[in-house]
Amino acid sequence: MPTRDDVLRELGLSPRWRLRDRARDDDIDTDPRRARIASLACDELVADIDACRACALGATRTCSVPGVGVQGAPWMFVGEAPGADEDAQGEPFVGAAGRLLDNMLAALGLSRERDVFIANVLKCRPPGNRAPEPAEADACRPYLDRQIELVGPTLIVALGKSAACTLLGVDAPVGSLRRRVHRYGATPLVVTYHPAYLLRTPADKAKAWEDLLFARNALREALTQAGKPAMPSGAGACAPRPQAA
Ligand code: URA
Repeated sequence: MPTRDDVLRELGLSPRWRLRDRARDDDIDTDPRRARIASLACDELVADIDACRACALGATRTCSVPGVGVQGAPWMFVGEAPGADEDAQGEPFVGAAGRLLDNMLAALGLSRERDVFIANVLKCRPPGNRAPEPAEADACRPYLDRQIELVGPTLIVALGKSAACTLLGVDAPVGSLRRRVHRYGATPLVVTYHPAYLLRTPADKAKAWEDLLFARNALREALTQAGKPAMPSGAGACAPRPQAA
């Protein structure tokens, strides 16, 4: 008689993936903070992130960086953590990596004001732009999960290893996760390189462009399967704070 893990492995779902997922579901019942965050509305979530001291980063940040974009957007892009520019302005991807991301969006005919929601694994800047500590990513995780639920994207694009591994519950290089449609719950998820990595490694920009075209196809397929129009416009702005004039 095959065990549950045997069946999951046969289906391409590693036991680790499932166990983490199940642990998260259990947490919603048992962890009061997670349960409270899971019930917050968009503006309440922003205020909660602003007041958060669940890890030490809350004490060293200038601004929290909840995320920006359109609630109901078909596309959701998830990066790693705010850098210096984002920490100063309270908006994700506004520095050099952000300009590259905007250009990539424009090449797809997308704009951050109209078509996408952009968030990070961490909502506060790690000092010196170091990679997120696992405990920091865990502390911020309820916010990301709730954002994804509120935005309800048709497709998630994980930008870089931190986002991909956090959302998929795996530990693998970006190169091995590209060119496949993964799942975050029921939502299709595609992995590509982080724009900051592409600035350091311009030779891989062509691969990132392939990934975005792959993502666009995955999104179109998901819309067709859901019986939705080809490119719905988002509904209801969900900006974290008033946009700079
Ligand atoms: N890098 C990220 O991962 N996120 C940002 O918001 C900016 C740079």
